[in-house]
Amino acid sequence: MARRVTEVLAADAAAVLGLPTGRTPMPLYRLLARLGDEGTLDFSQATTFNLDEFLGIGPDHPGSYHAYMQQHLLSHVNLPSTRAHLLRGWTEDPERECARYEAEIEDAGGIDLQLLGIGANGHIGFNEPGPHLMARTHRASLRPGTRRANAIFFGGDSDAVPKEALSMGMGTILKARRIVLMATGKSKARAVQRTVHGSLTTRVPASFLQLHRDVELICDHAAAAGLGTR
Ligand code: PGA
Repeated sequence: MARRVTEVLAADAAAVLGLPTGRTPMPLYRLLARLGDEGTLDFSQATTFNLDEFLGIGPDHPGSYHAYMQQHLLSHVNLPSTRAHLLRGWTEDPERECARYEAEIEDAGGIDLQLLGIGANGHIGFNEPGPHLMARTHRASLRPGTRRANAIFFGGDSDAVPKEALSMGMGTILKARRIVLMATGKSKARAVQRTVHGSLTTRVPASFLQLHRDVELICDHAAAAGLGTR
């Protein structure tokens, strides 16, 4: 995945990247951070948009994705802070914040390369499984399992994880020109299998990636365990 980032930036230094958070991309950011620290990775003309952010916590909260991005990537690369976009989870007006974010993505010319993780329940961003999905950036309720999975960012306490978030929508993600999804570990095997071989269903939001013409899936063996079967 790091190679995809460096390839895209080598082809177009002003590329627009969509970025995930969570445990899965930590090794990716470690590698990119090392290249940034060495001065061999140039983000000076790039633009980034993060997928999502918790609602109701500020950028300095250690569990926020602002803090995550600062720690894992932004403090190591020469990306101007004005072009590192994240949803403002502390907004007083979530609907307006979501509309602002969509407009910023449009103004940037859309996303060239969207990097994604996947939840064990098949979510991408905070587009959680349910009876319907949202197309645009929106306010999202988090499922209990998602809050448990994020407890590591909140001192191990899933009750401390916000119940809501702001997230790019399915259409926001699917409009990216190219998508790379990364999944590691056996807890993701079922979601990966249903994403690749299952029907399109709002119960597995990542299954909608089947509609996109340029998606690459990068898995370890454990996450890929179900891919030979239907
Ligand atoms: P994880 O989260 O990388 O922490 O497993 C991925 C996701 O929920 O999208």
